[in-house]
Amino acid sequence: MSETTKKTTTVLSLQAMKARGEKITVLTAYDYSFARIMDQAGVDVILVGDSAGSVFAGYDNTLPVTMDEMIYHTRAVVRGTGQALVVADMPFMSYQIDLADARRNAGRLIKEGGAHAVKLEGGVNVAETIRSIVAMDVPVVAHIGLTPQSIHRMGGFRVQGREEAQANQLLADARTVADAGACAVVLEGIPAELAKEISAELTIPTIGIGAGVDCDGQVLVIHDILGLCEKYSPKFVKRFADVSGTIREGIDDYIREVKDGSFPGPEHSF
Ligand code: KIV
Repeated sequence: MSETTKKTTTVLSLQAMKARGEKITVLTAYDYSFARIMDQAGVDVILVGDSAGSVFAGYDNTLPVTMDEMIYHTRAVVRGTGQALVVADMPFMSYQIDLADARRNAGRLIKEGGAHAVKLEGGVNVAETIRSIVAMDVPVVAHIGLTPQSIHRMGGFRVQGREEAQANQLLADARTVADAGACAVVLEGIPAELAKEISAELTIPTIGIGAGVDCDGQVLVIHDILGLCEKYSPKFVKRFADVSGTIREGIDDYIREVKDGSFPGPEHSF
């Protein structure tokens, strides 16, 4: 994708893409360099995910991530982005206390971080929060199904909605977040058939991760698709490149050349 042919993505373009059946591509980024590469490649949406807690900071889950950390990552990503829509995750405890706190924190991600939209986890239980943030003209992406901030309630990272009652709850969650004004909804770790049903019913785009091919778009964590994170690899991840191997080769060569005195050569010296 050349830099001149790709148009800027807005929440309206996401809606239009759904309407014409064009799949939406979403990747996570946490810094300037990755954001720049994926923006130039033509990815539609860059998600500054709180998965930064796991793949960037090395925590076991996303719970320790703070608002200040999310703002820092978001600013770096925004500086590397020209065309993609930048969505920033609201971290755990930034929207659960009360609506005023949720509005203040959503506003910070827009004003201090430079994001174009925010994402938060939950369905029926966060409908009022979504409504309240949308009322300040901040677009909200909802996130239902396997919601990593609920890891302790779920008892681990497990597929959600396999049983009928849970599937019905997820349908209700999807309808409710759409009614509350969400501009899109991430469907994570749910059966493909359920995601298909939700995607067909909602007028807002669905973005799947471990939710099958019938979602309106797909999102993956950049470290997972590039093979940068060996710690944990869920079934829904496809590794599109082995960047760890390439980095390792470069570092091995550097160490060898410094040790044997072949770097720096005369061309790197003054
Ligand atoms: O934090 C994150 O990166 C996410 C995506 C995996 C959907 O929420």
